[in-house]
Amino acid sequence: MIGRTAILRLAAGAVGLGAIAGVGFLAYALHPAIAPIAPPAATSFSAESIERGRVLAAGGYCAECHTRRDGQPGIPLAGDYAMATPFGTIYSSNITPDAQTGIGRWSLAAFTRAMRYGVSRDGANLFPAFPFDHFTHMTDGDISDVYAYLMAQKPVHSVKRENTLPFPFNMRILQAGWKLMFLHPGAYQNDPAHDAQWNRGAYLAEGLSHCSACHTPRNAMGAEKAGAPYDGAPVDNWIAPPLNATNPTPVTWTEDEFFQYLRYGVAPLHGSAAGPMSPVVHGGLSEMPEADVRAIAHYLANIDHADARQPGDAQHLTAAMASSTRDLTTPQTSDPDARLYQAACSACHANTGAKPVLGRPELALNNALWLDEPTNLYQVILRGIGTEEGQAGITMPSFYHALTDADLARLAAYLRRTRTTLPPWTDLEKKAAAVRATLPAPPVAASH
Ligand code: HEC
Ligand code: HEC
Ligand code: HEC
Repeated sequence: MIGRTAILRLAAGAVGLGAIAGVGFLAYALHPAIAPIAPPAATSFSAESIERGRVLAAGGYCAECHTRRDGQPGIPLAGDYAMATPFGTIYSSNITPDAQTGIGRWSLAAFTRAMRYGVSRDGANLFPAFPFDHFTHMTDGDISDVYAYLMAQKPVHSVKRENTLPFPFNMRILQAGWKLMFLHPGAYQNDPAHDAQWNRGAYLAEGLSHCSACHTPRNAMGAEKAGAPYDGAPVDNWIAPPLNATNPTPVTWTEDEFFQYLRYGVAPLHGSAAGPMSPVVHGGLSEMPEADVRAIAHYLANIDHADARQPGDAQHLTAAMASSTRDLTTPQTSDPDARLYQAACSACHANTGAKPVLGRPELALNNALWLDEPTNLYQVILRGIGTEEGQAGITMPSFYHALTDADLARLAAYLRRTRTTLPPWTDLEKKAAAVRATLPAPPVAASH
């Protein structure tokens, strides 16, 4: 699920080589191999360190990218997860402690260098599809706990498939150019202008849990845009919405809304964590101590200026609830789009009170209607929402087979014009077909 724009970064490596030939480049390009060690016994690590490492590995979604998901099902952490790019596919490494095919013969020094500088044990530059540009901000202590956890797992003999990148993108040395320009190595330094909770949140969001890897747009070189942190960005055929003051949803993301969403996968006044955001919450942040998730929420509420924006919330909430209630109280017999909405969606989405009922997301408050593109709305309608996504145990059916692209376009236009104050979306039917083309057809029986 966590795929990403690896190709942009590959291209950037090539550009980087052209732009910066010379001494600086070579310093980044050439790394010695670090001598292999005899695989350490699992008993050489303390139980406390292994447990801290387990939680950290969850919060960095290591297993999400290091487990094969296509073809035969993979063994967790044994790698071979395919990250597709327009030029070819990069496969993730086996990070179980197998001596031949995994990291069993890696010393802590070799592992730390990979996390901080994106360099493999043998000295090869790693592709930044591996988000070492974030992991570099972890402390030595946290990196060594993750190492302890990985080394204490069962070794799995598993050879990953060969990357299918053509020349010159397959040249690892080119990645050095990208690093020279965009990698800022080193552990996170506390910002004395802020308190301990804010700094803890920043440490996790910017490092281990790499929120901006999806929520910040990338420049032409594939690096996160320096002047646009958390401005929102496309990712894996979804849109990761802005998390700063430009977030378009009508009610402010306050610390408590962020906390509910990140802890339980659903925020009462916004919606659910679906698609690529689902594994970030479930099996990711959900494994972390509550205080850590609270710290991330605290940090984000400061970034989006929640305090300054909150006073308008009551009014926006009232307007949103009124737009939803209108469908129920006004028979729309003359409007075919309204009838389609009432038939397909409103049984589960109509709210009549002053606030939405939990488990009945209010569409007028959801990012799906307020973003510049209908991408997330189409994803949700076509895929539905599984039991493991969003609010645990609650599902939304897939409409992949039940609704045509023309139906989707009508629903999108109708919801946008009745529930937001924004200009209409364009090319709706074409965009519905484009999102559909990215999805495997679900079995007919599973859809309604
Ligand atoms: C977004 C996907 C993604 C996430 C999340 C991720 N990795 Fe990786 N990782 C990769 C890919 C892809 C590679 C292979 C890069 C290459 O071949 O250049 C890799 C390579 C590595 C390597 C180098 C292995 C070698 O043999 O050179 C290590 C070590 C590693 N990852 C550890 C981790 C740890 C620990 C975590 C969690 C804290 C993690 N990764 C999270 C995608 C990811
Ligand atoms: C792999 C990509 C990815 C990563 C990593 C990621 N997000 Fe997201 N995020 C998304 C996507 C896609 C959505 C839209 C999901 C939806 O609408 O159901 C989203 C939605 C959100 C939302 C809801 C925004 C709204 O207006 O509805 C919040 C809040 C959020 N993410 C916070 C975070 C935080 C905090 C982190 C780091 C701990 C993070 N995300 C990491 C992809 C990601
Ligand atoms: C059978 C009940 C049901 C029907 C019918 C239904 N939904 Fe949903 N929908 C849900 C539930 C439940 C959720 C929240 C799921 C969760 O959190 O796990 C949801 C969530 C959503 C979300 C929020 C997703 C997010 O990422 O925050 C959107 C948008 C949405 N539905 C749109 C629609 C549209 C449009 C239709 C009509 C085509 C529709 N739904 C029909 C039950 C339904």
